[in-house]
Amino acid sequence: MITIVYWRLIRPEKHMYDELRRQGVPGEPFIPIIGQLPQLNRARENNGTLAYLFSLSEKYGNYFLFSFGPLMRIMISEPDMIADVVGRSHVHDYVKPDVFGNIFKPLIGSHNLLVSEGEEHERARKMLNPAFHFINLKSMISIMVNETAKAIDSFFLSSDSNAIDLHRELSGLTLSIIMSSAFGQASSTRSNFNRTMYQTVNDVFEAIKYRIMHTITQIPFLARLPFWRKSVIDDGVQLIGDAVDQIITDRRQGRSASLCAGSDLLDLLLSAIDSDGKSFTDEEIKQQALTFVLAGHETTNNLMAWAMYVLMTNESALRACREEVDKVLPNCISPSHELISNLVVCEAVLQETLRLYPPAPIFARKCVREHVIGKEGQKQLRIPVGTTIVINSYTLHRRADLWSRPHEFDYTRWLRDPVTDLKPKLAHPFCYLPFAAGSRNCIGQNFAMLEAKIMLAMLLQRCDFVMEPGQNIVQEFIITMRPKYGIRAQVKSLSINPSTENIGSYKIEGKIIVPPGDNALENTRILIDEGLYIGIPQVDGTFVISGVPSGSYIVSVASPLHVFEPVRVDINAKGKTRARKVNFIQPGEVVTMKYPLNFETHGIPNYFQKREVYRLTDVIMNPMFLTLLVPLALLLILPKLASQDPEMQRDLQQASNFLQPNMNTPDIGDMFANMFGGPKKQKPTQSQNNGASGGISTAQQKRKIEAAKRRN
Ligand code: HEM
Repeated sequence: MITIVYWRLIRPEKHMYDELRRQGVPGEPFIPIIGQLPQLNRARENNGTLAYLFSLSEKYGNYFLFSFGPLMRIMISEPDMIADVVGRSHVHDYVKPDVFGNIFKPLIGSHNLLVSEGEEHERARKMLNPAFHFINLKSMISIMVNETAKAIDSFFLSSDSNAIDLHRELSGLTLSIIMSSAFGQASSTRSNFNRTMYQTVNDVFEAIKYRIMHTITQIPFLARLPFWRKSVIDDGVQLIGDAVDQIITDRRQGRSASLCAGSDLLDLLLSAIDSDGKSFTDEEIKQQALTFVLAGHETTNNLMAWAMYVLMTNESALRACREEVDKVLPNCISPSHELISNLVVCEAVLQETLRLYPPAPIFARKCVREHVIGKEGQKQLRIPVGTTIVINSYTLHRRADLWSRPHEFDYTRWLRDPVTDLKPKLAHPFCYLPFAAGSRNCIGQNFAMLEAKIMLAMLLQRCDFVMEPGQNIVQEFIITMRPKYGIRAQVKSLSINPSTENIGSYKIEGKIIVPPGDNALENTRILIDEGLYIGIPQVDGTFVISGVPSGSYIVSVASPLHVFEPVRVDINAKGKTRARKVNFIQPGEVVTMKYPLNFETHGIPNYFQKREVYRLTDVIMNPMFLTLLVPLALLLILPKLASQDPEMQRDLQQASNFLQPNMNTPDIGDMFANMFGGPKKQKPTQSQNNGASGGISTAQQKRKIEAAKRRN
């Protein structure tokens, strides 16, 4: 046993330690197995793990040796060296350290972006990069807005007098945003799914942290033993995995849909293809979707909690944000894609929060091919195979030579120059790494920033926050950096500014009534003006669409299984709402209806038309046929009538002669009469002509004689 421990845990670590020491790397002494665990635990108890690591960088400089228990690490906060580790030129020289896989593989498997390596990672990254492009994220804005509006409503409900823990409330919100974006409808309408998933995800997260804090996950042998909350993780993972399998099957078979007008993350996963045209397997889709939840939930939650903290403790920043939100999103209008890009102060506040409180303050890479890092002409290090480099962005972001007033919260450092309109230039391209850098940087950073901007703007737009006095705000670092005891605040609904009171922001609510046992609600959405705002019904059919300004809207229900009649809803400037029948011909006509709305099914939609069958009557009754038939019948009947009535016969003859200026042209009446009207008649000669016709022939004769004279 001792030999195994020595060969597996002590010898390789000591070898690397000595190697680096020989190159002049300073650091803490090498103590087998224990390393600097006692100091680390003491720092943790005194609530300052990151501050302790920062103090070591002050003591030793921008790279030093340190052991997390048995695991010896070189900690780096030197941008030139970091560039060599994470930059594209050494992409094949590093992998993620084993401990990373030990923590995450039991949760999300090994075929996902976070833990896969080499070609598998490159392929998946290429397939998934487009999913996080701004164009695709645009369609998920409505999910972020809707979830935030719902969460704000529950802040109001719970914040009558008691303070709430912002970190906890925001955790629920970021979890619902990422789950709704990754899994769509199932996460929103199946209350059972919601409850199970939220609770299980939280339980699993807590169990992971417990095991990391107690150095269980770091030692594979201990990690496999069925103690220390292992069953919480195993059972939770099984449960979540089964639920996600079901969601994928439902989406593939069209039984569920995204919660936005366009594609959500699951749609993008299902449609992603590699350069050979191959798509992800169901197992890969499950693991990638779970990875998004794992990587995107707590990180964004922490960013938001710290952002609220800095705003509540920094009056000028809060005022600047509020002023911007009032200007860009007046009268509580919902953030749209175009408006969000104007929230530059909010964005700067978030960037500065990420600098001082990076949610993922440390990330690591293990060297698999020996090489040299550091700028030529400066200190360079030869990194032996097996060395794990820890990049400490918390320390990097607070380096006095890279940042002016490094510990001070100053969002203006991120604003464009008012004179040149140029973006501020960083001291070094690798001095700001909240989302890491290089080929393994955070794929979800655009998603996270978009989500955080929406949450921040809507919270400031609708709520007033006052921090509860006497709190101990402590940074706790276990994988992510979060406020250990939460951040408690009094939250009040902001009263609407009197000058803008006449526009307001209101909600449209109601219920969809379908026969009992019908699961149509899962695929049903409520559309305001064909999707300007979208609502999702709860399991009982009720829905609330918040953030709707005053105006007149057509509210319709889109359902694949039922037809519902649309309703016009008018919200006046004071928020008074009425519902009335839709009348496109006389829009002013008012037939009022019940409000809150009640949508009752009007039957099943007719998706198919009956195939046409050939019938003789269809040919006969065809208008073209009829138009041909009538003149034909007239032509047949008229000569018959004429032959019986001499007067009529004479009239017809007259009309025929009138229409026949040329003697050589055959008489049409006669022609038809001959064709259809019985025995052939002799064409009358000129001498037989009499009456009116005689007048015409005489004139013609005269014209002929005159013409002959002229010729002679
Ligand atoms: C403020 C929020 C966030 C922060 C600070 C953050 C930070 C990071 C960091 C530092 C890494 C590199 C980790 C490492 O190399 O060990 C990372 C990777 C990753 N993040 Fe984020 N993240 C955030 C939000 C998100 C969101 C919202 C998603 C997904 C929707 C996401 C998905 C991922 C994935 C999949 C990776 C692995 C990428 C790869 O290796 O190719 N993250 N993130």
